[in-house]
This record gives sequence, C-alpha cells and structure tokens, in this order.
Amino acid sequence: MSKAYETIRVEREDRIAWIILNRPHRLNALNDVMMEELLDALTTIENDPGVRAVIITGEGDRAFSAGADVTAFPKATPVTAEELSRKGQKVFSMIEELSKPVVAAINGYALGGGLELALACDFRIASEHAELGSPEINLGIIPGWGGTQKLVRIIGLRNAKRLVMLGERLKAEEALQIGLVDKVVPFEKLRDEAMILAQRLSEGPPIALKYAKYALNFGSQVPLEVGLRLESALMALLFSTNDVKRGIEAFMSRSKPEFKGD
Ligand code: COA
Repeated sequence: MSKAYETIRVEREDRIAWIILNRPHRLNALNDVMMEELLDALTTIENDPGVRAVIITGEGDRAFSAGADVTAFPKATPVTAEELSRKGQKVFSMIEELSKPVVAAINGYALGGGLELALACDFRIASEHAELGSPEINLGIIPGWGGTQKLVRIIGLRNAKRLVMLGERLKAEEALQIGLVDKVVPFEKLRDEAMILAQRLSEGPPIALKYAKYALNFGSQVPLEVGLRLESALMALLFSTNDVKRGIEAFMSRSKPEFKGD
C-alpha cells in the first residue's frame, strides 16, 4: 500500500484506500505512466481484503483531472491513439469491475478523461467550485475512454449531447441537477464527506456489495431477462455467506451487524 508512484499517491485510512492523482502542475492530466500506475494500484487494492472501499481524488484544489495529457497528442498516430484509448478503457473498466465500491471526490475540473474516470466510479461527490465537461470536440476528437457511452446511461441522450457535441462545461450545481454528480459540498468538506460515504460503504457486507455492483453495472448492458437471471443467481449465492446470517441475526436482535466478508 505504501508503494511509491511517480504520478499518483495511494494512502490508507482504516478500511479505505485513497488514490490521489498527483500531477497538479498539469491539472492531474492522465498520461501513460499514470494509467500504468493506476492499473498497478487498483490491482493491489483488489487483492487486499483489508480494503473495503476506495476514494479517487486529485491533488490540490484546482483539478480532479483535466483529462488526457494533451501534450502527447502532437506525436500521436492512429495506432498510438487506439492504444491509448484501449489503455484508458482498461483502467476505467477495472474501476467498474473492482469488487469494492469506488467514490470519486471531484475536487475541481473533471474534464474529458477526468470526467470519464469519475463516471467509472460508483458515486460522485463534487466540490462547489468543480466544473465537469467533455471538451474533446474542441480538439477535433470525441471522448475515447467510454464517455460517449456512459454519459448517455447516466444523464440521458439530451444532456450527453450538450456535453459531448457542444463541449459545454457544467458547474457542480448544474451537474447535480442533471444527476451527473450525487452531492455538492464546499471544498473544505469534500474530504470528510467522501470519507463518511466510503466509511458507510466499508461497513456494508462486502460480498453483497460486490454482487450488487456487478448486477447493476453488468445488468444495465444486457437484455432484462438476462439481468434478472443474473440477479436471482447472485441473490441465491449470497445465502451461502456468513454475512447474510449476521445481517438477519442483527435484524432480529435489533443490533448493528458486523459484516466480515465471508
Ligand atoms: N493535458 C496537459 N496539460 C494540461 C491539460 C491537459 N489536459 N490541462 C491543463 N494542462 C496544463 C496547462 O497546459 C498548464 O500548463 P503550463 O502551466 O505549463 O502552461 C497547466 O496545466 C494549467 O492549466 P491552464 O490552462 O493554465 O489553467 P486554466 O485555469 O487557464 O484553464 C482548463 C484550466 C482546465 C480550462 C484548461 O487547462 C483546459 O482547457 N485544459 C484542457 C482540458 C481538455 O481539453 N481536456 C480533454 C483532453 S482530451
């Protein structure tokens, strides 16, 4: 957990792992090294049963992430651009497929790939001064890390077109109104609010949370009948866990369950 990275920091607080994007001089733009380091950190977190929730944020108060590192674009070829797109999709898929809940604490600009990173998380809390958008169209490209597909699912086609085709940047409050973020708080409270949410998630039953996340994410991409069958199978599997016994016992005795993840 204490591994030293060049472009991110990973910190541990109780059962919560923080991933902090750490290139503030470039507004935490995502470059190749950062992608590799995110993959490595996420793999470590996935394999650590002591981590029950994750928070991703950016260093400083200016940016969560201003997107892909544009300085690499002039030298890009179609082949390297395709590779970069696939690498980002891999990182963001890993967040979506992580067996633990992930909270994005959006501490400033979340633009382009920065917004796509936040979209891959399960919950989004934004600081009041944060701005969110997909400005790729202004560079002559489109979102390439899942943005076109995920925005539609989260904020609907109409709003997604405003962001992707017009490159409009939304203030946090408007992002809240259209459901792009779950909560807006003053910057000074962002860390605490993210912790409160992550703490709550970290006290939940880990296997049920893992299956819930999978059923919701996977289920939204398949025909309803397939999703319903998956839901039944996962719900049935949960009856093999000790946590379901703990949950039911606690309900019967009107106490708080202590879920252990077995
Ligand atoms: N890639 C690489 N560097 C970036 C970057 C990015 N996506 N976004 C910002 N930076 C760098 C700037 O080049 C600048 O570096 P410099 O100090 O060496 O000149 C530094 O971060 C600060 O950014 P700056 O533009 O000076 O801040 P600002 O407050 O004037 O504007 C933004 C902030 C976010 C509006 C502006 O930086 C921006 O539009 N960034 C690009 C966003 C984008 O198009 N993302 C999608 C990429 S596909």
